[in-house]
Amino acid sequence: MKRIVILISGRGSNMEAMIRARDQGALGGGQIVAVLSNRPDAKGLETAAAAGIATGVLDHKAYPDRESFDAALAQAIDAWQPDLVVLAGFMRILTEGFVRHYEGRLLNIHPSLLPSFPGLHTHQRALDEGVRIHGCTVHFVTPALDHGPVVIQAAVPVLDGDTEDALSARVLAQEHVVYPRAVRWFVEGRLSLESGRVKVTGVQEAGILRAPELCT
Ligand code: GRF
Repeated sequence: MKRIVILISGRGSNMEAMIRARDQGALGGGQIVAVLSNRPDAKGLETAAAAGIATGVLDHKAYPDRESFDAALAQAIDAWQPDLVVLAGFMRILTEGFVRHYEGRLLNIHPSLLPSFPGLHTHQRALDEGVRIHGCTVHFVTPALDHGPVVIQAAVPVLDGDTEDALSARVLAQEHVVYPRAVRWFVEGRLSLESGRVKVTGVQEAGILRAPELCT
């Protein structure tokens, strides 16, 4: 049984997708042991509690600097003895020490096809650039922001007349598909790193998912 701690800052829809996958037996037997937030008002905390999952809050504003917050966060996480830490809309830049501590067991989802559009406002930036294909990326976390070995990406079309909201919703629907899948692969021991690239064992067509609109 692999133990998973999820970190959130807000809505928590990716966390919810993970809980749904667990309930459907699609998380490879992974157990979500705790959901932690850096924001006391994160909506996702209620969702997690309603699903019977232990929750905790570490308000980053209560710490003098990034190092002390990350140290306290690591302590709170490690109390749950996780095999995997899942960043699901956790809106904090992490210190190198924190990232190194969880090397190889820290996953993030980013709402763009990395390495395009790291950082914030990815959907608006994709629209501004006029790209035709956008998407999301699940990756192992390295000290560089929104960077690290890619586990899976999902691609969606950018349609004429798209707004930031419409594009964001199209990407989010795919996030909810690929993130639980990546976590299942981790739990099932299918992920390994070879020369900085992720290898997925025993899964056909593992690394990319195309939205149905791109398959026609
Ligand atoms: C998602 O778009 C995720 O890719 C990004 O932040 C957003 C979080 O959404 N890192 P939610 O809290 O999971 O609903």
